[in-house]
Amino acid sequence: MFNILAIESSCDETAVAVTQGREVLSSVIASQVDEHKLYGGVVPEIASRRHIEAISGLTEQALKEAGCGPEEIGAVAVTYAPGLIGALLVGVNFAKAFGFGQGIPLIPVHHLRSHIAANYIAAEELEPPFLALVVSGGHSHIVDVAGYTDFKVIGRTRDDAAGECFDKTARAMGLPYPGGVYLDKTASKDRNRYSLPKPSVDGSVYDFSFSGLKTAVVNLLHNSAQKGEPVDIPALCAGVRGTVCDLLLDHTLRAAAALRRDRIVLAGGVSANSELRARFETACAGRGYKLYLPPVHLCGDNAAMVGVQGYYEYLAGRRAGANLNAYATRSIETG
Ligand code: KG4
Ligand code: ZN
Repeated sequence: MFNILAIESSCDETAVAVTQGREVLSSVIASQVDEHKLYGGVVPEIASRRHIEAISGLTEQALKEAGCGPEEIGAVAVTYAPGLIGALLVGVNFAKAFGFGQGIPLIPVHHLRSHIAANYIAAEELEPPFLALVVSGGHSHIVDVAGYTDFKVIGRTRDDAAGECFDKTARAMGLPYPGGVYLDKTASKDRNRYSLPKPSVDGSVYDFSFSGLKTAVVNLLHNSAQKGEPVDIPALCAGVRGTVCDLLLDHTLRAAAALRRDRIVLAGGVSANSELRARFETACAGRGYKLYLPPVHLCGDNAAMVGVQGYYEYLAGRRAGANLNAYATRSIETG
């Protein structure tokens, strides 16, 4: 089995890993969160510049921690879509140069596919088929995973992603970036204090819509400020978190029943959410479904998951040439 050097730079984390099949030999991450926090969100231009500065040093560190030299790397896997275009291009160009220098294959990896693959690292027995809920800052997808490189989107958000809804409502409440993390920490048990809408989508029982919830929270804060009434922020956080979890759980269970999948996999940054994890655990246990949750340290962006998905893409014959481009949007189905 050969070693893969994996590179991730789709948003605000520069990450490099060395993997071998599903095994992680090293995984290092440089987070830019503290810098973007100053602006309340990711500033794309800054993200690209920080990736450029961090990527070579991180690669040296990842190789050192894996105890292997560049000549012991058999392929290079890189996130090429979807994400911030300038940020992705840094990783893609670095991977191209590394691959060309070593004379080894270059494997393009779809970011959401890699989030799902984070589960293969911790759960040795997990293999497709299964149903996945992929929830990140930019995406909310229910995906039927028929094979390691065979994906079908069953439901998706029509507007904001779940993570985006958390981030934007948290920001309106004055919580720091990344909002989802702080909203989860701040939420009290008082989830019914504020009545919030639970938007459904015409013509689909699987698709999501979160923008109405975001608008309701912004209006509630606005109206309270105008009337000089205090807002119970922990209760509002609990209301938002509970409503988002209701929708994610409900649609996923519906899809699992319709597709007769009895294994459910969560993936993406939002799968670190404490209520989402607890509610899926209870619901799946009650229905006899097997649930897979990524360990919290593998929920967010990292390169170990890129290496593992890259391995399966490699086995499926996926290769890129020196003309590989990066894409801000790209379907998980085409990869
Ligand atoms: O997958 P990810 O690290 O990056 C993207 O690919 O977007 O996901 C980041 C998202 C952010 O929206 C962040 O607020 C959210 O994951 N997130 C959480 C939690 N931890 C991270 N949302 C809710 N609860 C959490 N504990
Ligand atoms: Zn991500």
